[in-house]
Amino acid sequence: VICIGIEGTAEKTGVGIVDSNGKILASQGNPLIPESGGIHPREAAEHHAANIVPLIKDALHESGLGLEDMDLVAFSRGPGLGPALRTVATAARSLALSLNIPIVGVNHCIGHVEIGRLTTGAEDPVTLYVSGGNTQIIAFDAGRYRVFGETLDIAMGNCIDQFSRSVGLGHPGGPVVEKLALKSRNHIKLPYTVKGMDLSFSGLLTAAIRKYESGEAIEDVCYSLQETAFSMLVEVTERALAHSKKREVMLCGGVAANNRLREMLSIMAEEHYAEFHMPPMKYCGDNGAMIAWMGQLMHSHSLVKGMEDTEVIQKYRTDQVDVPWRKSSPK
Ligand code: ATP
Ligand code: FE2
Repeated sequence: VICIGIEGTAEKTGVGIVDSNGKILASQGNPLIPESGGIHPREAAEHHAANIVPLIKDALHESGLGLEDMDLVAFSRGPGLGPALRTVATAARSLALSLNIPIVGVNHCIGHVEIGRLTTGAEDPVTLYVSGGNTQIIAFDAGRYRVFGETLDIAMGNCIDQFSRSVGLGHPGGPVVEKLALKSRNHIKLPYTVKGMDLSFSGLLTAAIRKYESGEAIEDVCYSLQETAFSMLVEVTERALAHSKKREVMLCGGVAANNRLREMLSIMAEEHYAEFHMPPMKYCGDNGAMIAWMGQLMHSHSLVKGMEDTEVIQKYRTDQVDVPWRKSSPK
């Protein structure tokens, strides 16, 4: 079985092709880079509409296959921006209908975990998934991926991006803030908000902007923002690791590009004698290959239903999905 997957929950359009053994035959993507401000759902949808067909062509070219070789269409069903999801679903339905092959909608967050397991060899990790739109600590337990902790308001990447835009550093903020943070060792106290196993970044964001506006050096604010936010992430991941008694920690999502976060998380893992894993950057952020691989996993467990089961689910929860391909967690 050859599966073609289409991703487009947020600002990046991705098309991937994966075979039933998990061999990634192609992965092509194109991010929307806004001229100013953040991402508007409608603009993301227009970006997908303009890019899906060219990316399908590029992915086919990369794989050396033709449309007639495709056996299954997978698409990201949610969670994500409504207009973006609907555009992707419409494209996926049209493709499946025109090729007369089955279609399956998949959970985007689980896609991140599964492409991570596929590309790193991690078996049963506690996963920290941190991106512009999501912040979750995920681990497998009793037939499903459970959310051990998550943000109660904005995502980690979004916090950094909003900070960056507010202080005139542009979008996306991650790489610029990381670079500036390297120039400082001066820690300014900022709100550290962990509630049980959940996180909150909005107070931290407001406080960081205020510090900058009150005259603190931008390098110091960037450094302190990173140190505070990443400590929060590491604390919750550490507790999930201790509770679940798992032996692997995995980092994924666009914020995984950050060297300081990687360093902090891998030190924590080492202290717990756990292995640290991170997929190649290409498969950390949103990509089509993770959607195609999810299609394969769903297909191999008879979870591919008909066209009637393809409506998008904007708030699709990680723990809403049965995961029969992971019988039980190896301890
Ligand atoms: P999702 O749909 O999973 O929420 P996304 O649309 O946010 O994904 P990604 O490419 O996964 O897309 O992540 C982008 C985010 O990663 C942005 O918020 C960006 O600022 C952040 N980021 C990128 N590089 C770095 C970095 N070096 N340090 C911190 N954050 C970074
Ligand atoms: Fe994502």
